[in-house]
Amino acid sequence: MTEELLKIRKDLSKKLKKERLEHTTGVMYTAASLAMCYHADIQKALTAGLLHDCAKYGSVKDQIRLCQKKEIPLTESETAMPALIHAKLGAYLAQHEYGIKDREILDAITYHTTGRPDMTMLEKIIYIADYIEPNRKIIPGLEEIRGIVYQDIDRAVCLAAGRTVRYLRDGGKSVDPMSVSTYNFYKKDATE
Ligand SMILES: [Fe+2]
Ligand SMILES: [Fe+2]
Repeated sequence: MTEELLKIRKDLSKKLKKERLEHTTGVMYTAASLAMCYHADIQKALTAGLLHDCAKYGSVKDQIRLCQKKEIPLTESETAMPALIHAKLGAYLAQHEYGIKDREILDAITYHTTGRPDMTMLEKIIYIADYIEPNRKIIPGLEEIRGIVYQDIDRAVCLAAGRTVRYLRDGGKSVDPMSVSTYNFYKKDATE
């Protein structure tokens, strides 16, 4: 790890709870291994993986308050589904508190929860690393996604997005329109 990343990790280890930190480390190294497989930039994958949940400390109320303070506008669905807020806020903190300037890394953090249509390779890597990292508890379909992601990352994104949308709908929860768009985009060539 570079000095810069070690410094960020040290800071995050003071802020994030133990489980969140474990998850963060899992995402970071899973992202690096996917970057090796798909010839993406390994340092960018480590950086985005390390920072993807950097805003996930404090309560949702704290996150909303911080967004108001920093004048970060929230969409209707972000207000309705506050679990989404940490992605946008995380990109802001990555840029302004951790000095990350690379747009690709910031976008990968912004879209790690919902994905988006036509993602860059780094965005897909962080989206899927967040879903499959080793500390994730086993949910139906996870093994299948882990099994195919190193052969076909688009298919893995399709399966993960499809399961996220279904899980939320089945649980009677609201689904962010961007998650649906992600699923629709990636299912175009796949049979789910
Ligand atoms: Fe997250
Ligand atoms: Fe995460």
